[in-house]
Formats: sequence, structure tokens, C-alpha cells
Amino acid sequence: MDGNGRWAKQRGKIRVMGHKVGVESVQEIVRTARELGIKVLTLYAFSTENWKRPAMEVQALMGLLKSYLESELANMVENNVSLRCIGQQQRIPPEVVKVLDRVIAETANNDGLILNLALSYGSRNEIIQAVQALAAECLQGKIRPEAINDQALADHLYTAGQPDPDLLIRTGGEARLSNFLLWQASYAELYFTETLWPDFRKDAFLTAIIDFQQRQRRFGRTGEQVTGAE
Ligand code: IPE
Ligand code: MG
Repeated sequence: MDGNGRWAKQRGKIRVMGHKVGVESVQEIVRTARELGIKVLTLYAFSTENWKRPAMEVQALMGLLKSYLESELANMVENNVSLRCIGQQQRIPPEVVKVLDRVIAETANNDGLILNLALSYGSRNEIIQAVQALAAECLQGKIRPEAINDQALADHLYTAGQPDPDLLIRTGGEARLSNFLLWQASYAELYFTETLWPDFRKDAFLTAIIDFQQRQRRFGRTGEQVTGAE
């Protein structure tokens, strides 16, 4: 979800205004994902690197996150959404974690859309943590080093048990992954758009999905193998 700051700047407003309007995009995209029957939606809301931003902006983002969670709880319960968090929860301010934990607990048994919020998330950090856990299991004799495979590593990521993403959308015109789901997105279709996040609404989301539907996913095979043509 990139481009909030620029969106605000273009309108002569402070960056935080962009984040505020960006929350409306989040609401619209989550609703659309639900309507479409998408099983998992992961929103990169705050990266491990975002802690380097000015304290005032970080504070504003945490405040917006808290009020978003408070105001959406009933809606998530009603609409069978299950909220999860991926990232370093221990770095999030305690008053935000309190609300976060409550929403996660109260939506845990919902089996509709899984909504992952990536908060203080960094993919390298996530992979390192998984490797450390596997190394510890090796030392304890729970797993042999040769038995470590794709599945074993995936089982130790924050996204354990969830399918890999099919489509990865980045708004705001940059064409990079910025430490997002590096392991999980190995075969994701990448979609980059100039649209700034506050302007990324239902129509823009549907356009991205239609683009995705026209891709041929070969997973290393030939096009002929995939289509069954001679
Ligand atoms: C939102 O956009 C990303 C968040 C950390 C919430 P930015 O804040 O990165 O906006 P730009 O890139 O400065 O326009
Ligand atoms: Mg940005």
C-alpha cells in the first residue's frame, strides 16, 4: 500500500492526511476481497524499515491502526473475516497490541476471508527467525538437517498453514518488493500500478485481478504443457 504521502503532498496536505484517506481504501479493498470470495488478503501496513520514519508519523500510523481495528471489529465478526497479524508484534505499542489481540481472538474462529495485517513486518527477519527455530530443533534432535525442505521452512514463517499468494499488487509506481513475502511470493504474479494507495479503490482492484486472470502461470513448464496443446 504505497503512495499515501505523495497523494497528500499533491493536495498540499500533510502526509498523515494521505494515511487517513488510505484507511478508506483499506476498507473498500477488504470489502471487495470478501465479495469476490478471495481466501487470503495480506496488507503491508508497516514494515520493519518504517520505524525509521519521523516519530510523529509513526505515532499517527499506530493511532490510525488502533482506531481502524476498534471500528472494524464488529464488521469483521459480522462478515466472517479472520484477522491475523504477521510481523514483530513485540515492537508494536502495547495499547495497539491490546486491541489487535482482542480482534484476533474474537475473529479466530471465522472461516471466511483471512485478513493478514503485516505490521513491523520484514521478510528477511521472518526467514531468519524460521531458520533459527529450525536450527534449534536440529540441536534438540527433533529434525535432521537433511529433512529441512520447502515445507519445513514455510511451516516456520508467520504465514504457516496459509497458501502462497497468487497475486502481489504494489501501488504508488515503485517496482520493487521492499522486503515483502520474499519466500511466499516466489511464484506470485506481480502487478505494479502508478495509482497511489488512497486512489486504489474497487475498480482499480478489479482491473488488477482481470490482468492477473489473463496471465499464463507456467510454474517452470512450457506454455504447451500448460494448455495441453501439441
Ligand atoms: C504508505 O505510503 C505506506 C505506509 C507506510 C503506510 P507512503 O507513506 O510510503 O507514501 P509515499 O511513498 O511517501 O507517497
Ligand atoms: Mg512509500
